[in-house]
Amino acid sequence: MSTALRVAIAGLGTVGAGTVSVLTEHRELIARRGGRPVDIVAVSAKNRAKERGVSLDAYDWYDDPVAMAREADVDLVLELIGGEAGPAKAVCDAAISAGRHVVTANKALLAIHGDALASAAETAGVSLNYEAAIAGGIPIVKALREGLTGNRVTRVYGILNGTCNYILTEMRENRLSFETVLAEAQNLGYAEAEPGVDVDGIDAAHKLALLASLAFGTRVDFAGVYTEGIRRIALEDIDYAEEFGFRIKLLGSARMTEHGLEQRVFPCMVSKDKPIAHVEDAYNAVVAHGDFVDDTMYEGRGAGAGPTASAVVADIVDVARGFAVATFGVPVGALADTAAVPIERHRGAYYIRLMVRDEPGVIANITAVFRDEAISIGSMLQRARSETEAVPVVLNTHVCEEAAMRRTLERIEALDSVVQQPTMIRIEPLN
Ligand code: HSE
Repeated sequence: MSTALRVAIAGLGTVGAGTVSVLTEHRELIARRGGRPVDIVAVSAKNRAKERGVSLDAYDWYDDPVAMAREADVDLVLELIGGEAGPAKAVCDAAISAGRHVVTANKALLAIHGDALASAAETAGVSLNYEAAIAGGIPIVKALREGLTGNRVTRVYGILNGTCNYILTEMRENRLSFETVLAEAQNLGYAEAEPGVDVDGIDAAHKLALLASLAFGTRVDFAGVYTEGIRRIALEDIDYAEEFGFRIKLLGSARMTEHGLEQRVFPCMVSKDKPIAHVEDAYNAVVAHGDFVDDTMYEGRGAGAGPTASAVVADIVDVARGFAVATFGVPVGALADTAAVPIERHRGAYYIRLMVRDEPGVIANITAVFRDEAISIGSMLQRARSETEAVPVVLNTHVCEEAAMRRTLERIEALDSVVQQPTMIRIEPLN
């Protein structure tokens, strides 16, 4: 058998330790498939003494991951530290400068510095692989970069954050508020103590920016992703969604249009007729539409040691095989610069929930604003609770432009009889 592929691992958290497990437990299988053994040679992490469930005795230990990336006698460096800058970026820069291949699971790093790192990797003649960065164990990078390469991909969307999908599922199934489920998820260790990166949609936006680049051959444009999270979703909205035949999902969606590139992450209502509406708990799913293949859908676990390490090891085996593809499917110089379409130009139908005082003329005043902005109401529902409490008025609109909807909501919020900021959730037809 040929010479082993020598690997250094920077970062030994859940994913790093999971990768050590896969590489050791499946050593024979991986050697057969990769055409040569994969040897872990060096490792680096913050805390050498921490119990990780895997033995590190056979590997050289480095306190400094950047020194390891630069100096260890390896062919490939795994960057599993995380974070968009700091040591993660320094490790990748050092490894590429030293002519070593890089495999990373770091979506934040690639969403911000992907073009520059890919360019440096091309110059150095090394691979920069990142299957684990998007939707964990789902092989979506391979699907877009290789499996669908004969297609013009026109749309890609998905459930890209397992924490949000878990929270929305728990809220619906157990009739709990966002805050209650988030606190439970934190206690169980599913959600971070500082959960903003997940629940504010930032993690999904990182992944969407990478998916869009892969799908459309455009430069990674994280700043062009319009992002909203799930904090404002109330149990009432989940209940109304069910009643109207929808599920609320945090979707990341990218589409190439005649006006430019649309990249959006927001909670939206999707019909229960669509398969993605039934992707529950912490699962992820991605749908890619190609002009010849039509819709393709991929579902699986988006996080956790096993699924993420599975993706990391696939990238390692590609390097062992000598299989290389440009980071974003085409060389960086061939990636297109495409204008981002602002959210104000979004066109779609909307679900609106207003809390109003139940008194004469309220509905007339509200519908007058919709009339003035030429937004057509598709259906409307008011259920009284009592004469003293505010009551919900829920309506769904026909398709209109977001700018008009935003003006409408500003004017409605200013009405005396409207007692809360209106809730607006976009309805996604997914076609
Ligand atoms: N925090 C992510 C999620 C997993 O909840 O899906 C890692 O990207």
